[in-house]
Amino acid sequence: MSDKIICGIDIGSHKIATVVGIESKEYEELRIIGFNSTPSRGVKRGLIVDIDKVTGALEESVEKAERMAGHKISSAYVSVGGPHISSLNSHGVVAVSNPQAEISEHDVQRAVEAARAISLSTTREIIEVSARDYSVDGQSGVRNPVGMSGVRLEVDTHIITASTTNLKNIDRSLSDVGIENMGFIFSGLASAEAVLTETEKDLGVAVVDIGGGKIDLAIYVDGSLSYSSSIPIGAKHITNDIAVGLRISLDSAEKVKLYLSDLYKMHDDKLRKKITSPPPDFQGLTIPETISDMTPKTLVDGIIAPRLEEIYKYIGEELIKSTFADSMPSGIVVTGGGALTVQMIEIGKKIIGMPIRIGVPEKATGLVDEILNPQFSATIGLLYYGKKYMSTTETKDKNFNRILQKFSLNSSFTKLKDMFKQFLP
Ligand SMILES: Nc1ncnc2c1ncn2[C@@H]1O[C@H](COP(=O)(O)OP(=O)(O)OP(=O)(O)O)[C@@H](O)[C@H]1O
Ligand SMILES: [Mg+2]
Repeated sequence: MSDKIICGIDIGSHKIATVVGIESKEYEELRIIGFNSTPSRGVKRGLIVDIDKVTGALEESVEKAERMAGHKISSAYVSVGGPHISSLNSHGVVAVSNPQAEISEHDVQRAVEAARAISLSTTREIIEVSARDYSVDGQSGVRNPVGMSGVRLEVDTHIITASTTNLKNIDRSLSDVGIENMGFIFSGLASAEAVLTETEKDLGVAVVDIGGGKIDLAIYVDGSLSYSSSIPIGAKHITNDIAVGLRISLDSAEKVKLYLSDLYKMHDDKLRKKITSPPPDFQGLTIPETISDMTPKTLVDGIIAPRLEEIYKYIGEELIKSTFADSMPSGIVVTGGGALTVQMIEIGKKIIGMPIRIGVPEKATGLVDEILNPQFSATIGLLYYGKKYMSTTETKDKNFNRILQKFSLNSSFTKLKDMFKQFLP
């Protein structure tokens, strides 16, 4: 096997992260050889709001990751998320092409294509079609029908769609930086690839990626992706609350927030003393007089906890909406930078009443120290998804269907142009 380079670009509202992985004969695992995270600009809740700013930040991140990897990035899998994402489950049925023989890969593809044929407005585009369950001649629960005999093949799929305008804007930024988009991957799905275990997926679990501006959520039931959505609230709201509550700048509020999550990691006895003793030590931050007698505990209980309770209420509502809330014995895996917020687990257990753990992309190998952080779950997940995609399909380009669509549009446009040319003198 020759060395394969796989790249991922995670365009978030807090950071733009680029990661370069290598798959080689030498190491079986995908090894990370380049990484960069740059503060994001021009992205709000997963939507591009200023394309030039995004392109600038993207260029900076890509260049730094290239320098670290010693490798030029020419193509990458790209994350996409936010409230413009929606999902539905769709069913496809086909007659097996040769009932005497086995069900072939081609039959499976036809069934998935049949499920994909949903009516979609021109402003939306399919970014993911994931098979949940196959039935052969009415027998459901088939994981892989290839090689089985039968006359009727059915498939239940989970389809994720996104706003065409936003995808086009991301494409514009990527092409300005000279990068070919290998495919859009829903951030919730990318995070799931990085943090969930196969057992969790089989039992039923929700991965909840709490970013700066939005929460991406993906639910797995019986090992398959069954629901995805996004909630327009994120960890930046906690920073805003601190800034307003303490009447300090957003930058200082962010420092206070990070300080508090560090502080609460302390051993219990030490912690108890520190969090209840005013004034809090905010690492040299200039804190206004009004709050100098506040303890860290009053800040956490009075400002952070109510916002976390609200965030979990939204998550709970989304789980109910999905109809899968009772099919997830593995509970919730929270990840994304927001998962590091102080009291995340405690408040989650109280509001949701399910097992909760923090998901870290710990399978990553290579240049990993900085990356073993929930903030980069979706970023690392892009590589795992890309690796899996490349090994299961002939084309490594997840955008193949999009390209085909564009190609057929282009060719009909060329035909139309040729037809008009006939009438020209
Ligand atoms: N140690 C920490 N403690 C508390 N909060 C943290 C910590 N590290 C990061 N965060 C918060 O996580 C948020 C950023 O998370 P992340 O990097 O996952 O966002 P993003 O992917 O850029 O955004 P999005 O996915 O919403 O577009 C910020 O609000 C930041 O304050
Ligand atoms: Mg994110």
